[in-house]
Amino acid sequence: MSERALTEPVAPAAHRAPSPHADFTISQDWSAYSPEEHDIWRTLFQRQQSLLKGRACEEFLAGVRALGVVADAIPDFRRLNDTLNAATQWSIVAVPGLVPDAVFFEHLANRRFPSTCFIRRRDQLDYLQEPDIFHDIFGHVPMLMNPVFADYMQAYGQGGLKALGLGALHHLARLYWYTVEFGLIGTAEGLRIYGSGIVSSKGESVYCLEDPRPNRLGFDLMRVMRTRYRIDDFQVTYFAIRSFDELFEATRPDFTPYYAELAGMPDVEAAAILASDVVLHRGTLG
Ligand code: PHE
Ligand code: FE
Repeated sequence: MSERALTEPVAPAAHRAPSPHADFTISQDWSAYSPEEHDIWRTLFQRQQSLLKGRACEEFLAGVRALGVVADAIPDFRRLNDTLNAATQWSIVAVPGLVPDAVFFEHLANRRFPSTCFIRRRDQLDYLQEPDIFHDIFGHVPMLMNPVFADYMQAYGQGGLKALGLGALHHLARLYWYTVEFGLIGTAEGLRIYGSGIVSSKGESVYCLEDPRPNRLGFDLMRVMRTRYRIDDFQVTYFAIRSFDELFEATRPDFTPYYAELAGMPDVEAAAILASDVVLHRGTLG
């Protein structure tokens, strides 16, 4: 056997079957999860639940409670959808992995969240370079129980379709990255997490709030859309919003003129701090 064959991750076959449909959806096939897979979910869930008390924002924690996702077992999308639909008219659709941008935006614009349904292996508990069901469901879906955030995600999908047509997707993708995936929010008790890439990561849940190294800056839409990001390590910069209403209002205007302006501006490096930035301190009000 070659060394490559020995070290190559064994792609779990179940729950990753390519979709026969144009919208990339598959069925979750809940009964096919093994006891080991349910156990991996339990480990991940319990770990994050205890880490996120006092670190995740109240909207996220309330979303977890209201959704009824628990440690016991990998959630069944049919059950989650009853609750999610009743709350915000969103639904979860299962997909085998990352889907093309246009497909992703089309789902979001119709209040459907495409979620993977495979779960990482036990040797990948701390880090996985692609989304799995723990990231997608535990990380993203609780915030979709919040009415303002639910509307923001739909608007993002609509904006994504437009950005694709305008060749401005790299700018809009940065907004997703620094809000939906890695966003912080300032509260009266200090900075809290709402980004799904953080809440589903053991290391980054602590690092983003407590480590002295990363920059924590006040959210500024144009600044965010100019800022490069890291995909292979903890972030070097986080942006904190003051409220979900503020985020939704800032992103409500038509971005077409913003993209025109951004086209003439240089990118900002991930680690940079500009004179115009509002630098936040740990534990202070955003
Ligand atoms: N208002 C944005 C546009 O016209 C769309 C958008 C909404 C983008 C919310 C992100 C978040 O492109
Ligand atoms: Fe994600």
